[in-house]
Amino acid sequence: MAVDLLLGLQWGDEGKGKIVDVLTSNYDIIARFQGGPNAGHTLEFDGIKHVLRTIPSGIFHESAINLVGNGVVIDPVVFVQELDGLDQFNIDYKKKLVLSRKAHIILPTHRLLDAASETAKGKAKIGSTLKGIGPTYMDKTGRNGIRIGDLELDNWKEKYRALANKHEALIGFHDVKIQYDLKELEDEFFTAVDRLKELTFIDSEAYLHDAMDAGKSILAEGAQGSLLDIDFGTYPYVTSSNTTAAGACTGLGVAPNQIGEVFGIFKAYTTRVGSGPFPTELFDDTGAEMAKVGHEFGAVTGRPRRCGWLDLVALKYTCRVNGVTQLMMMKGDVLSGFDKLEVCTAYKYKGETITHLPFNIEPENVTPIYTKFDCWKEDLTQMSDPSQFPKELNEYIDFLEKELQIPIKIVSVGPDRTQTIHR
Ligand code: GDP
Ligand code: IMO
Ligand code: MG
Repeated sequence: MAVDLLLGLQWGDEGKGKIVDVLTSNYDIIARFQGGPNAGHTLEFDGIKHVLRTIPSGIFHESAINLVGNGVVIDPVVFVQELDGLDQFNIDYKKKLVLSRKAHIILPTHRLLDAASETAKGKAKIGSTLKGIGPTYMDKTGRNGIRIGDLELDNWKEKYRALANKHEALIGFHDVKIQYDLKELEDEFFTAVDRLKELTFIDSEAYLHDAMDAGKSILAEGAQGSLLDIDFGTYPYVTSSNTTAAGACTGLGVAPNQIGEVFGIFKAYTTRVGSGPFPTELFDDTGAEMAKVGHEFGAVTGRPRRCGWLDLVALKYTCRVNGVTQLMMMKGDVLSGFDKLEVCTAYKYKGETITHLPFNIEPENVTPIYTKFDCWKEDLTQMSDPSQFPKELNEYIDFLEKELQIPIKIVSVGPDRTQTIHR
């Protein structure tokens, strides 16, 4: 049985959480493969909105097992807050939530290091969510990290102390003042670790291999978006993991030839939170309108998301890097009633017209070239079938499918589970 992947094709917040929740009824296992609590995945049903950070977005379904893979970085403090959130809805997560022993742990000092590093960068800051993601992955690749499986060993606190001491020295190395009370942070951390230890830790790659042998269906859930990928994103304004399809192989222990469908999610426009280049960004009333109607505020930090037109140059690139087999277009409802729509189909780059993403997409190098479309006027949010789509929406979808050569199989017309139209 193949493993299907679901991942974001832009700069994150495409609506991954919503679609994973919608698709969960088709799968036995939902497995998060990278990132950490920098993610905020929103699900809405029965009039209630839930935001998940590390826990896979299948957790609200009765039957599916939700697996946190080895490629994920876990902050016990945030994780326990998520569990508390689930407790409010009587979700029996102990039976259906499992954690990879190989997943790395975010320590309180990783968060402090993130803050020190960002402050020291000044204007060049990444715009990190400050959840300790970068420093934790640095310790992973530097071979110093502490993993979930270490919590089962007697001496893990010695390892913790040595690493935390090193981090304190590193914080001092940054020429900035960071106020903190480590004792307080550690009390909170160790209490959270005790709670985490009540959950099931597994050798997740073996678990998934057995599941595949037994014919179980698996959906791998990505976090962030392809343009935030450490290798293929807009470096250095990226996150610290491989958010693209290859990250699912390393983040779960799944071989490339076991990958089935690759579901790529994109918004009908583009958003970005944090710093970094964004060629189609709008600084006018249209951009402000997208932000307002689309409620474009970060699910994790509450920061306003920058908004702009759909960038087909970037979307073609991310479809290619991921091997996307099916597309899902989100938030078309937000654009209803706009005067016109624009889609960037090429860049003017050093005097030439190009249709690939160059090394440097800073505004001084790249000017987007747009194709204009009429916009639909109808409210899409109550629609339930593609036959109800206005002509302009069909034209927009047809154009994108033709350009990308990949079918758009789901059109999402609102945040709720039910506002999902299959084509
Ligand atoms: P994720 O990180 O990819 O899971 O996405 P987020 O949850 O951070 O951001 C997506 C936001 O858009 C959330 O507030 C969703 O509830 C909302 N959303 C998802 N799909 C749609 C849609 O089709 N229309 C509208 N209006 N909102 C949507
Ligand atoms: P989901 O899964 C949008 C952005 C941050 C910052 C950069 C690096 O909800 O789509 P980090 O905290 O990783 O050091 O931040 O990446 N970023 C996201 N933007 N959605 C996310 O996750 C993001 N996770 C990180 O804003 O620009
Ligand atoms: Mg999000």
